[in-house]
Amino acid sequence: MDKTENSFFDLPNPRKDIEDLQPYSAPLEGRRNLLRLDFNENTIGPSPLVIKSLREISRDEISIYPEYSGLKEKVVETLIKQNSSVNINSSEVGIFNGVDAAINAIFHAYGDFDDLMLTTSPTFGYYTPCAQMRGMKINSIPYEGRNFKYPFDSICEFITQNNPKILLICNPNNPTGTRLSPERILEITKLSSKTLVVVDELYEAFTGDSVLPFVNFQKTPNLVVLRSLSKTAGLASLRIGFAIGHSKVINIINRVTGPYDVNSFAVIAAFAALTDQSYIDSYVNEVLEARSWIKNKFESFNVKHHINGGNYFLLWPKSNPKQVEQKLKSSGILIRNMDKKKYLKGSIRVSIGTMDQMKRFWSAFKVVDEV
Ligand SMILES: Cc1ncc(COP(=O)(O)O)c(C=O)c1O
Repeated sequence: MDKTENSFFDLPNPRKDIEDLQPYSAPLEGRRNLLRLDFNENTIGPSPLVIKSLREISRDEISIYPEYSGLKEKVVETLIKQNSSVNINSSEVGIFNGVDAAINAIFHAYGDFDDLMLTTSPTFGYYTPCAQMRGMKINSIPYEGRNFKYPFDSICEFITQNNPKILLICNPNNPTGTRLSPERILEITKLSSKTLVVVDELYEAFTGDSVLPFVNFQKTPNLVVLRSLSKTAGLASLRIGFAIGHSKVINIINRVTGPYDVNSFAVIAAFAALTDQSYIDSYVNEVLEARSWIKNKFESFNVKHHINGGNYFLLWPKSNPKQVEQKLKSSGILIRNMDKKKYLKGSIRVSIGTMDQMKRFWSAFKVVDEV
């Protein structure tokens, strides 16, 4: 830090890794009342059951510390209902203040100074600062070719040669939608027992190819799967997510969080959201229908695009992405400019909502980019 900044006070020095850190920053202000296709959130809100249970919260509930009993069991029950091959128990579930907090806790618990973190590029932007905060070395392997194929062979080779401490697989990947099959993920876990393989399944509902039905954490203790209620369930503002893995690993990760990091509103909403799985399923179906519709439009009108897993796609407009972003904002639509992201020059990322919302986006985009 510049000494002259502190001419009156001799402030304590922060850790060097933190001083040098490029924090994860997202343009999160002023988004109300616009069509928000910029953060891959649920675009219609949570189940009415969630709203009802939040409205009914008592004064007591607010004045006492949160209780979590039964929530892990509810998560297990929901996962097994979705797929009867899932074989997990409640000691294999950790509750976090959003998956962001789970990611941070994993790095806190496992990432030592100079350890290696392996991931792909481009991917979700929060893995890198979490690794940097711990002074870890980062190796990001690019997705392959125009279709952003998962660099499976290079990842395997790197693990075999370097035994990284943490491998982060975003599946499907945000923002390329790249999918990796459960079989391949399990192959990766076998390469090094010293590598914790973290599979961020935030958008799994839109592909249905979760690794969970294929895993037995007793046999694969170096795998952790992340799930959140932010996106499909529509609870992004309440902050609640889960890490699922071997009970010992979950116990270790939970040691670095505070005792009440997840608040009662989030817990109550989570119970309601998990109870109304059919609401989530019907929202996901609506998004998938809208995805086919917009994909057809891009193909018919020759718009350069990339749609794969997840509730989002990439577009390469003919005009400057920043101008497209600004003009769409003037018509009340938010999207994410990816022009500055490595390997994504000239692109924007757009979240997929309902059919009506995609129609609105398409009408505006056609005008803005003169399609
Ligand atoms: C891939 C990925 N992981 C994690 C997160 C954060 O999830 P949460 O809202 O549960 O913290 C996001 C949010 O955009 C994401 O895209």
